[in-house]
Amino acid sequence: MADFILGIESSCDDTSAAVLRDGVLLSNVIASQQVHKDFGGVVPELASRAHEQNIVPVVSEALRKAGVQPEELTAIAFTRGPGLLGSLLVGTSFAKALSLSLDIPMVMVNHLQGHILANFVRQPDKPVDEPEFPYLCLLVSGGNSQIVKVNSPLDYEILGQTIDDAVGEAFDKCSKMLGLGYPGGPVIDRLAKLGNPDRFHFAKPNIPGLDYSFSGIKTSLLYFVRDEMAKDPSFLEKNKEDLCASFQKTLIDILMGKLIRAAKETRIRQITIGGGVSANSGLRERLVAEGRKRGWKTFLPEFKFTTDNAAMIAVAGWFRYRAGERTPLDVAPVSRLADY
Ligand code: KG4
Repeated sequence: MADFILGIESSCDDTSAAVLRDGVLLSNVIASQQVHKDFGGVVPELASRAHEQNIVPVVSEALRKAGVQPEELTAIAFTRGPGLLGSLLVGTSFAKALSLSLDIPMVMVNHLQGHILANFVRQPDKPVDEPEFPYLCLLVSGGNSQIVKVNSPLDYEILGQTIDDAVGEAFDKCSKMLGLGYPGGPVIDRLAKLGNPDRFHFAKPNIPGLDYSFSGIKTSLLYFVRDEMAKDPSFLEKNKEDLCASFQKTLIDILMGKLIRAAKETRIRQITIGGGVSANSGLRERLVAEGRKRGWKTFLPEFKFTTDNAAMIAVAGWFRYRAGERTPLDVAPVSRLADY
């Protein structure tokens, strides 16, 4: 008999549900919250309220699109953390209630594990192209920047990570500073395509090993723009595209520098990226170019699986379910979840 897994994701500001049949994606529904737009960032209280409104229609729609009745479900995979506690609470509580009423097991998933396994989302009518283990994943999002060695679907080693800001935060904070809005990544990505990446130079951090740091570049950009604006108040408006292109190139140089080193040290040539920042077109192009040069096999998740989505949570849950993992009903969500 086929296994049907329902995935539920509610860690930040996207309410999402997905259904898998024996590991193949049947549906993936995402309700993005618009209420945060005017606030320049996600407002936790508004996010959890919006999740409450969205969760029932989103799950119903995912089941309807998949053509699956609730009684046919085998297990429920849900994001336990990391994320906003109030948001996580909605998805976790919903998973518990459904698990109780249908008398089926729940499997908790670390949100980051979902991003790391995003390349394993199988879709009907699409060829399967998945990394072999062990592979390296450059995990880049609004909350994390890590190089992870993935030994198997459930066994990870963090080789390096940021010691301060995440790279997504650098995109978001600098975009706000430049008056470009939130979230910053997509705006900077779009403007960077129109600018000269070699026009301005920002200092790169000198951090030992495979760790990252992104807080200094933010300050470097801030001081640079402030000084230039003192000389010419229209500097920002005139140079927006070049600033974005140069800033983005610096971030990509930093990310790729350590990734190349990790690949050399581990001799691993299967390389993937995941997380919201993996949607960045400059980063994707550079990864492919470096891969060609260095004989890597690179894997880029489809855009719809780079940002928060339940398909990747369902896939991670499917791996865990098959490994025999079950989560008790007294589980609580956690805003910080270090262990995969
Ligand atoms: O993984 P994600 O959706 O949420 C978590 O942080 O868990 O990542 C969100 C981050 C934000 O910082 C956003 O600015 C960034 O991903 N992002 C991008 C792009 N699209 C989203 N950063 C750079 N370029 C993009 N195209």
